[in-house]
Amino acid sequence: MAGMWAVAALAAAAQPAQPAWVRFDAATKVFRLDGGEVSYVFGVNTRGELQQLYWGGRLAPTDNFPAAQPMPEWSSFDGSYTNTPQEYAGWGAGMYNEPALKITFSDGNRDLVLHYVSHTQTDDGFEVVLKDIERPIYVTLHYGMDGESGVLARSATIENRGTEPVTIEQAAAAAWALPAGNYTLNTLTGRWAGEFTLNQEAIDHGAQVIESRRGSTGHQANPWFAIQAGAADENHGEVWFGALAWSGSWRITVERDQLDAIRITGGFNPFDFGYVLKPDEKLETPVFYGGYARDGLGGASRVLHRFELEKILPRTNENSDARMPRLRPVLYNSWEATEFNVNEAGQMALAEKAAALGVDRFVMDDGWFGQRKNDHAGLGDWYVNPQKFPHGLKPLIDKVHALGMDFGLWVEPEMVNLDSDLYRAHPDWVLHFKGRPETEQRNQLVLNLARPDVRDFVLNTLDRLLSENDIAFLKWDYNRNWSEPGWDQLPPAEQKAVYVDYTRNLYSILSELRRRHPKVEIESCSGGGGRVDLGILRYVDEVWPSDNTDPFDRLSIQDGFTYAYTPQIMMAWVTDSPHWLNHRSTSLAYRFLSSMQGSLGIGADITKWTPEETATAKRLIAAYKEVQATIAQGDLYRLISPRDGSEFSSTETVRADKSQAVVFAFIHSTQEGRGFPLLKLEGLDPAAEYVLSPIEGKARADTPQTASGAWWMHHGLAMDENFRGDFQAAAFRLDRK
Ligand code: DGJ
Repeated sequence: MAGMWAVAALAAAAQPAQPAWVRFDAATKVFRLDGGEVSYVFGVNTRGELQQLYWGGRLAPTDNFPAAQPMPEWSSFDGSYTNTPQEYAGWGAGMYNEPALKITFSDGNRDLVLHYVSHTQTDDGFEVVLKDIERPIYVTLHYGMDGESGVLARSATIENRGTEPVTIEQAAAAAWALPAGNYTLNTLTGRWAGEFTLNQEAIDHGAQVIESRRGSTGHQANPWFAIQAGAADENHGEVWFGALAWSGSWRITVERDQLDAIRITGGFNPFDFGYVLKPDEKLETPVFYGGYARDGLGGASRVLHRFELEKILPRTNENSDARMPRLRPVLYNSWEATEFNVNEAGQMALAEKAAALGVDRFVMDDGWFGQRKNDHAGLGDWYVNPQKFPHGLKPLIDKVHALGMDFGLWVEPEMVNLDSDLYRAHPDWVLHFKGRPETEQRNQLVLNLARPDVRDFVLNTLDRLLSENDIAFLKWDYNRNWSEPGWDQLPPAEQKAVYVDYTRNLYSILSELRRRHPKVEIESCSGGGGRVDLGILRYVDEVWPSDNTDPFDRLSIQDGFTYAYTPQIMMAWVTDSPHWLNHRSTSLAYRFLSSMQGSLGIGADITKWTPEETATAKRLIAAYKEVQATIAQGDLYRLISPRDGSEFSSTETVRADKSQAVVFAFIHSTQEGRGFPLLKLEGLDPAAEYVLSPIEGKARADTPQTASGAWWMHHGLAMDENFRGDFQAAAFRLDRK
């Protein structure tokens, strides 16, 4: 039967070999993609459309599909075209669900029906070409299946081979489909200081939309979804998930259609979209990644974490061939300690203390440049402020290096204050509509990065900064969303290209900077977690998940974050108590343990720490470094969720080779004398022996020091009887003997 799946005949001998994960049955015109534990199948139906057939657990090599048959007409109101789930549907022919592509032709025609033309292999995947039934609009669908995780990368290139321009009003990266049934949709939404809230709701008829119309990814919704068969469950059940690699305005629409089937369509946000394609021009969509797991939301996030670590995140030149990106240096950041009041002496004092704690990287945040005394001035003027740093940055950088740390610097290159030399010289460089007010947010405007001159200015400014100073790290901030997104250099009909070209230029600057300065690492920050997505993650090493550093709030934000993103990139600072946002007081150990669940940083005014606090910090930073690889790059199990006012929460991370596990346990507030629940660990080798060592806190007195993986998983780990109270935390490591 295996022979039924004839490997596609290669069109030309010179072409790269067909990837092993694609098979094409020429008789039935069915394509099958296999990777990891996943199979994805679609075919050319009898009408000529590309129809989705299967997405789920990996099928046997002997399994095969009959030729795709369009869904029948349900009634005169729901015809076959709208009932049939297509890989990439044009809006036309009576389509009432979300289309992948909507075009207006110059003669007013808006009907688009895409049929299969050909397929071919490429260096890193394969492509299927579609064409409108009558007009020379071609769509090339790109497919790349990761052989290990089964994560599928999909995108499209739309090409106008006609003689007249056309306007693209809607262009998805991909559409996905699931058969009729009951499902739960998981999304991540929020706001500034409250990012990554997990929402779980049944998928009902109609459309559920998550989106950003803001010009960037946004705090309010993240371009990730997970759909679970039946009710949401952390450890069991089938999950289909997706993540859109785009840091501009985006939209993901999840529909339960008229026949109860599920469709997920995502790409550029069609709101205010209008991309003019002149003859012979092309538009490339972002990539939409999709994956599948059989073991609940936990299983889905473990697949996604590993995929991000191994296939998405960049490498520096020192570890360009490494399977994993290098661990994040433990960093110190000055923002919460000094805000804009940075100067040479103050930063040096902080650096001395940071080095004594065991910090590896010292980062000076906002305030060092131009006339930046507060947030009213200076953005755009990227020269060192001569009053604060009379000798430039060199003495501070030299001092940081002499203390054994590397040096990082905050920048916000896409923005300008009205009170700046840059704005005075180039008022036309900002996003604006001619003659209309320019809406300020945080007293700043957005530079129009889509303009080639602005792109060059930003690239050259940062290039000079990195060439003139020994800087290892940039914290790249972005502190507002767009308003008045005009681009008056272009003819009116073409100005909406700003939604595409801005983000493409952002990526090209990041990529070019990394090429010119290959040892530099970058953090994506947007007033916290406003720009976290798989697009930007190809160019940055870490992200700032939230400006909210309250250690209790962070438990929920971090919990939500990990549904979509690996703890490796999740920077988490220990800051001062009481916390500036919630005025909550917590112990230093509690703050450390909350931050140690990701990549650890310190953001407190450490010059004020007592000897006892200093000793605690030193001890916990040293303990963290011993287990960091497990926490940042291991398999994460969310044992007890902190969501929904939970009294307790707990996570466990297991190293890929199962040689180590790290467990965190947090009490919000003990009520009615309830002790901490027994923690049944996950993911250990049942036959191996593991030694338990406390990092902070104690296990119950009768807990064996050494026991099998089976013991820890089945019997469980019990906390000390006195582990009670408000804002308590404990952490343990288990090492295989
Ligand atoms: C917002 C960031 O999220 C903060 O960490 C800090 O860098 C400020 N901007 C500085 O203005």
